[in-house]
Amino acid sequence: MKKRIVSTLLCTAMAASLFAGCGSTAATSGSSSSSGSSSSASSAAKEESTSSASSEAATESADTQSSSAKPASGGGQTIGISMPTKSLERWNRDGSYLQDQFEKAGYKVELTYSDNKSAQQNNDIEGLIADKVDLLVVAAIDGEALSQVLNEAKDAGIPVIAYDRLIMNTDAISYYVSFDNYTVGKLQGEFVAKQLDLDNAGDKTYNIEFTAGDPADNNATFFFNGAMDVLKPYIDKGTLKVPSGQTEFDQVATAQWDTSTAMKRFQNILGSYYSDGTQLDAAVCSNDSTALGVTQAIESDYAGDNNVIITGQDGDEANLANIVDGKQTMTVYKAVANEAVVTLDLAEAMLNGEKPDDSLISKSGWDFDCSYDTSSYDNGTGVIPSYLLVPTVVTKDNMDKELVDPGYYTKDDKGYLHPVG
Ligand code: BGC
Repeated sequence: MKKRIVSTLLCTAMAASLFAGCGSTAATSGSSSSSGSSSSASSAAKEESTSSASSEAATESADTQSSSAKPASGGGQTIGISMPTKSLERWNRDGSYLQDQFEKAGYKVELTYSDNKSAQQNNDIEGLIADKVDLLVVAAIDGEALSQVLNEAKDAGIPVIAYDRLIMNTDAISYYVSFDNYTVGKLQGEFVAKQLDLDNAGDKTYNIEFTAGDPADNNATFFFNGAMDVLKPYIDKGTLKVPSGQTEFDQVATAQWDTSTAMKRFQNILGSYYSDGTQLDAAVCSNDSTALGVTQAIESDYAGDNNVIITGQDGDEANLANIVDGKQTMTVYKAVANEAVVTLDLAEAMLNGEKPDDSLISKSGWDFDCSYDTSSYDNGTGVIPSYLLVPTVVTKDNMDKELVDPGYYTKDDKGYLHPVG
């Protein structure tokens, strides 16, 4: 049976209400209601913990079968979903897709967002444990900061799936569902190498700078290493030059993947190393929130008039608009809708008492690629078996085919894309 989740998804208001989340359901509870967490007084935090992604605007799919087309099997069981923040666009989509998938399969869902605050995520998860959820799906804010609370989950007999970001130093994690994170970075590096035709550069040299992600996010080094492994040979050869000299992860990392942090760092780089007219040819940015900051810095502080190659990841709405407008060159798209499908099918198998392995992939009939990896992701207690989906390069030239045609985004009459779901 083929399953596709090209569902005509969800809250079409997603684009407009990105940071407000969309809709809510009774089954969904934020941290304040589900965990009694002492969530902060700030309205942003309140917003994070009380609003949730929509499922009511419902998935429908005329020509496809999705997980939601299966007979409901949840049997009243409850899934606790802990997402990092609504302030980074993709997690709104993840929460929305996950909630929709699980609810359509007959589960109750408690969905929390923790305002990018690790202490709040601990509280939120404690609340989900106290609510006796049957399984936890957790995208960690700080992968190193959840071992204690997840050991509590383990003691309570609640299985845990690490979602998108590996959670370190706890054997409470049964599985990891993500994309091939190293390949995300590799695609960015290969893109730059191809755009600059580095293999045929001869004596020509190009200037490049790097911006990586949050050191607390285990994914961030995978992305950085993927790109660096492709580009380092050209740096070693002298074809690529890094005027700032910042080539180590720790030098280029961006706390919390924050746009304005990335912008300020890049403004400093431009002021210090490029104000004399030095040309910047490429800026490798690990994701779209950092690419947005780098693009803003280039707009405000770069003296040159060449088109700087800028990479990204996620297909955030503002970045796709920048790609349409020629301000960002590419993004690596990860179909998080499919990540939610894998998570649902894995969770169901676990709750049925199975011990999922690579056969889950053949049994499930997904019509997207996914590999079962038992070597890449060691969280300090051993390798966590991982289901890894495949990322895709998106540029101005293929965005219709990759994003609009499959139903992930709609396109308005000005040519800009808006996420669905
Ligand atoms: C995700 C990326 C995302 C980043 C910031 C990472 O863990 O894999 O898709 O851009 O977090 O939200």
